[in-house]
Amino acid sequence: MILQADQLPHADIYRILIGSIAPRPIAWAGTRSLQGVNNLAPFSFYNCFSANPPIVGFSTMPRPDGRKKDTLQNILDTRCFTLNAASHGLVKQMSKSSATLEPEHDEFVYAGLTAVQAPHINAPYVKEALLVFECELREVISFGDQPGAGNLILGEIKHLMIDDSIYQNGRIDFEKLDPVGRLAGNWYSTIRDKFELERG
Ligand SMILES: Cc1cc2nc3c(=O)[nH]c(=O)nc-3n(C[C@H](O)[C@H](O)[C@H](O)COP(=O)(O)O)c2cc1C
Repeated sequence: MILQADQLPHADIYRILIGSIAPRPIAWAGTRSLQGVNNLAPFSFYNCFSANPPIVGFSTMPRPDGRKKDTLQNILDTRCFTLNAASHGLVKQMSKSSATLEPEHDEFVYAGLTAVQAPHINAPYVKEALLVFECELREVISFGDQPGAGNLILGEIKHLMIDDSIYQNGRIDFEKLDPVGRLAGNWYSTIRDKFELERG
C-alpha cells in the first residue's frame, strides 16, 4: 500500500505517525501564565537535538477549537519552561495533567502534584519528579493554524535538577528513573524489557 500524505485526512496521518514513531519520550512541561497561574501538561512529540548547547524540543498542536494550548501561550509570554521526568510511579498524575482545562485552572492542583517555583526561571516544576530541566525558549517554529499543525518549541536547558538517587558516576541510572514512553491511544511502554547490544 502506498499512501499519499496530502490526500489523507490529518487524523489518519496522526494515527499513522503515533503508531510508527513509538515509543516516544514525554516532555512534561511546567509553565506559568502572565496572570501567575501554574500549568502542567505532557507532550510526546519530544526529543533532544543538541548537546552543546543542550537543546530540547517538543510540539504542541492546537486545541480542537483552534486556540493555542496553554503551554504554548505561556511559553510565548514568559520565554521559559520546566521539563519534568515522567517516571512510571507518576504516570497516573501525568495522564491526569493532560486534562483540557481553561488557562485559569492549575493542573498541578488537579493532578494532586506539588508545584515548586524553579530557582532560576519564571516557571513551576513538579516536586515529585526525579529529574527537572530548567529551559529558556530559543524559538518556536509553527507549521500553520490548521488542525493538527505543530508548533515546535525549542528550548535550551540552563539548569538540571537531578535527584541524587538516580545519578551515579556522571550518568543517569535509567532503571531508577524508570521513564515511560507513549505509544498510540492509551498505550504506554516502560524500559523493563530492555537489552544490551555492543555497537558494530
Ligand atoms: C502522554 C500524552 C502525550 C501527549 N502529547 C501531546 C503532544 O505531543 N502534542 C500535543 O499538542 N498534545 C499532546 N497531548 C495532549 C496535551 O497534553 C493536552 O492537550 C493538554 O490539555 C494540553 O494542556 P495545556 O492546554 O495546558 O497546554 C498529550 C497527552 C498525553 C496524555
